[in-house]
Amino acid sequence: MNAKPASASVTIKHELVLPSDSNTLGTAFGGSVMGWIDICAAIAAQRHCESLVVTASMDAVHFHAPIRVGMTAILTARVNATFNHSLEVGVEVEAEDFSVGERKHCCSALLTFTAISPDFKLKKVPPLLLESDDDRARQAAGEARRAHRLAQR
Ligand SMILES: CC(C)(COP(=O)(O)OP(=O)(O)OC[C@H]1O[C@@H](n2cnc3c(N)ncnc32)[C@H](O)[C@@H]1OP(=O)(O)O)[C@@H](O)C(=O)NCCC(=O)NCCS
Repeated sequence: MNAKPASASVTIKHELVLPSDSNTLGTAFGGSVMGWIDICAAIAAQRHCESLVVTASMDAVHFHAPIRVGMTAILTARVNATFNHSLEVGVEVEAEDFSVGERKHCCSALLTFTAISPDFKLKKVPPLLLESDDDRARQAAGEARRAHRLAQR
């Protein structure tokens, strides 16, 4: 199985925040944002695995700043680490206010996906090509977090 660079998995998703995504304060629902995160991360995981994936877990998500109706949520997902049949994807969410040309970091999330075939059999995940110190650090940090997640399972 050929190793693949993490950069090939980078996926960017834009969501215009509509009133239907918002709470009574006019800011995006946490649940809507988590749904966008899940989809963006799943696309990155599927691109890397070239197979179907299911979400196995999502780590704690902390919302640092609200995203108001009319703003654009910009989600950037990237494969951090690969394991045997699973992989960790990190997602950064920014809110863009086009009227003032500003972007603000809103939240980060870490998700683990399991690669499966259409008949729900586990599939091997291609390893990451660790080309830079940053790639190696992400893989090592992902392995440490995985050990903690599996201990809590
Ligand atoms: C995720 C799922 C496929 C795991 O199946 P399983 O029979 O428990 O299989 P295993 O225990 O062998 O785990 C398979 C892989 O998933 C990983 N995994 C399973 N549960 C996990 C969890 N809670 N957190 C992180 N990784 C997990 C395992 O570490 C393993 O990966 P590895 O081979 O790289 O170590 C199964 O629990 C499932 O289908 N869950 C429902 C998924 C779902 O509906 N998601 C929402 C919609 S997409």
